[in-house]
Amino acid sequence: MSEPLHILSADQFDLADLDRLMARSAEMEKALAAGGDPICQGQILGALFYEPSTRTRLSFETAMIRLGGQIISETDVTFSSAVKGEVIEDTIRIVGGYADVVAIRTQHKGEAKLAAHYSPVPVLNGGDGAGEHPTQALLDLYTITKHFEIGQRPLTVSFVGDLRYGRTVHSLAKLLSQFEGVKINYVAPEVIQIPDEYLRDSDEKHHELSDEVLSSSDVIYGTRMQKERFEDMEDFHKVKHAFVFSPEMVEKLPEGGKLLHPLPRAGEILQAVDSMPQACYFEQALNGVPVRMALIAEVLGK
Ligand code: NCD
Repeated sequence: MSEPLHILSADQFDLADLDRLMARSAEMEKALAAGGDPICQGQILGALFYEPSTRTRLSFETAMIRLGGQIISETDVTFSSAVKGEVIEDTIRIVGGYADVVAIRTQHKGEAKLAAHYSPVPVLNGGDGAGEHPTQALLDLYTITKHFEIGQRPLTVSFVGDLRYGRTVHSLAKLLSQFEGVKINYVAPEVIQIPDEYLRDSDEKHHELSDEVLSSSDVIYGTRMQKERFEDMEDFHKVKHAFVFSPEMVEKLPEGGKLLHPLPRAGEILQAVDSMPQACYFEQALNGVPVRMALIAEVLGK
């Protein structure tokens, strides 16, 4: 039997893969408008989530249902054998025997990769601790491609917030780095700045969200302070209100500029921003369904 195709890191995609996945996502979005495309009838998605999730799990499940498949879901770790000390290697062998594809969210960096090693079926990394969140990055990229000609024209993207522990930032930065003409700013206090492993020579680090950064950013990507991942709670309390997007700040974006955020927000975007044309985060979350339909279809060879 051939090795299953896993989705573990943004590193695994080249530009041709991204083009194909973006085009497939657009097809899936059209199919969704007609209720879906039942190409995965008779197949099962297992969802193993060892950390809280709303959008990622439910959009994976919706995606499988819209593809005509079914789901089995482990949503609360307190009901799972993990509390009895079962290791992920055992769990994935079993769930991978029940299901045809498994979406997994784990508490530790590298755990999705570990699970994939023991899985008989494709594993989709829905977030591994402070590591990566590649399927979120693909839906972020899909959202960006709907508003900007990425790779065709210069694009400035500024990541703002918890860039150290924010796994969606890590994966999206890797995807964006592949495109010609993308400039990246990382805006964060030093304790939560982007780890060096994700930084390119052409990127800029800032500690403050200046008017200059705001007015030169086609895309601002805000993030939540990842409270649960801070080693020192004092650090968290120092930075927790570092950035709060108000309508006045969002007005400073250039014409056509967009504010993205993976959600959930924890106070960093005021609700008064929601009705502004720059607010793109709800649309972004909805894009999770067609993009995850495309990914499930891809790994199942449909
Ligand atoms: C993010 C995550 O879990 O990494 N949420 C998501 O999947 N949309 C962001 C976060 O938790 O802050």
